[in-house]
Amino acid sequence: MRILNSSVGRKILMSITGQLLIVFILIHLIGNSTIFFGPDGINAYAHHLHSLPPLVWAFRLFMLAAIAVHICYGVTLTLENKAANPGAYAVKRQLKASFASENMIWTGLLVLGFIVYHLLQFTVQGTPDIVVGLDAANRVDVYTMVVTSFGHALISLIYMAAMVMLFLHLSHGIPSFLQTMGWNNEKTIPVFGTGGKVISAFLMVAYISIPAVILAGLLKL
Ligand code: HEM
Repeated sequence: MRILNSSVGRKILMSITGQLLIVFILIHLIGNSTIFFGPDGINAYAHHLHSLPPLVWAFRLFMLAAIAVHICYGVTLTLENKAANPGAYAVKRQLKASFASENMIWTGLLVLGFIVYHLLQFTVQGTPDIVVGLDAANRVDVYTMVVTSFGHALISLIYMAAMVMLFLHLSHGIPSFLQTMGWNNEKTIPVFGTGGKVISAFLMVAYISIPAVILAGLLKL
């Protein structure tokens, strides 16, 4: 418990929970991409996903715990870093400061705000834009729900802005967790920096492509 509570222990826990969230973001993107195959793609995917409720709930609780740890430690580490002397590192083998790295707390909190909205919208189905029914095969019609919601330009724009925040957060988060794992040296640091930007840019463009394609009228109801 003492190790977990030390500042190194907490950074490692932030790194592990961050990695879990990145894996979720990747899997969720693959799942969401089934929308490009039409109602039979995403409705079948969602149907399979929900066919084992205990597993779904175990997964949700696990992810909720990961998010809670990531946020609690993110906020406390930021506050502690602000209070400490930033010049106190013994070895200056750090990632370069950038807009993304200096604003992790704000981009993180904005992504959290987005997740709360997103869950209220598509998981709780409690926002006014939601149209939910069953398709011809008696499955929840996730396709119509998502295409109807993203048909509202404002909702699509909120998603696109949130994906830019996610990009900023991950473009520092990815190299940062690699550094926490202790793999940083003069050779790897620039590779981590570029790799982090490339992976987060890919995720941003891929996620944005869904509302963009719907707004362009390419996925029809
Ligand atoms: C174009 C972007 C996105 C679309 C179309 C989308 C779609 C959806 C849908 C339809 C659901 C409900 C799944 C169901 O209950 O059947 C869902 C749940 C969820 N989404 Fe997204 N999503 C998007 C982006 C994101 C992003 C960027 C994140 C995280 C940063 C995220 C996190 C979640 C979470 C945590 C859930 C709850 C999973 C659960 O119910 O267990 N989503 N999403």
